[in-house]
Amino acid sequence: MTILSSDYLLAPSILSANFACLGEEVTNVIAAGADWVHFDVMDNHYVPNLTVGPLVCEAIRPCTTAPIDAHLMAEPVDRLIVDFAKAGANVITFHPEASRHVDRTLAMIREHGCKAGLVLNPATPVNVLDCVMDRLDLALVMSVNPGFGGQAFLPSTLPKIRILRERFDAYERETGRRIRLQVDGGVKVENIAEIARAGADLFVVGSAVFGAARADDPHRYDSVIAGLRRELAGV
Ligand code: DX5
Ligand code: ZN
Repeated sequence: MTILSSDYLLAPSILSANFACLGEEVTNVIAAGADWVHFDVMDNHYVPNLTVGPLVCEAIRPCTTAPIDAHLMAEPVDRLIVDFAKAGANVITFHPEASRHVDRTLAMIREHGCKAGLVLNPATPVNVLDCVMDRLDLALVMSVNPGFGGQAFLPSTLPKIRILRERFDAYERETGRRIRLQVDGGVKVENIAEIARAGADLFVVGSAVFGAARADDPHRYDSVIAGLRRELAGV
């Protein structure tokens, strides 16, 4: 395992934030110590829910200097990549089932100056990464079926995280290049250490962060972010 605890990154998912004051939510959660802003894009086609698009990404861009991580649950996906790159996203991930030409889509993300990643649903096998390792900056293991925040973490995804950790460590030894391993869905203070021990180094946290707060508390996200970090420091 090559991960140092200081290397762990937290990416709160704005899906569970208060959309009536989204800019403030983004500013506050980064001020509380989060690293990235996870931006869930759902199209009511690839997943049975409808959220936000590039206009909203563009609107929150001035609210933070933190990376915006656009998780595209949309099909077809290619057209949106250009729009999100222009809207200020720094990282773009997509589901291989939503692209006819995965290698081309990954290349397109990088051509537009963003970090590129593939997302594996709970039922998607790890071999979808086989032929595109050199094109990946990260892979995202979904630990729930995509479409909704607030679902329970699926423990059956832990073995997949372990397999990818071994594979990414071997790849780093061979090439000197690190691929980040992100986990999304049901991550909480109670289970983040176990998920980190399996090998994840980048954690999406939606309801655990935004659900645990009183709207009138200016430091509402500090204690949960600190709790997540404390758990990670003990790994
Ligand atoms: C689900 C989304 C997640 C979701 C995570 O399809 O991709 O990013 O917002 O929310 P929690 O942490 O509540 O499971
Ligand atoms: Zn997500």
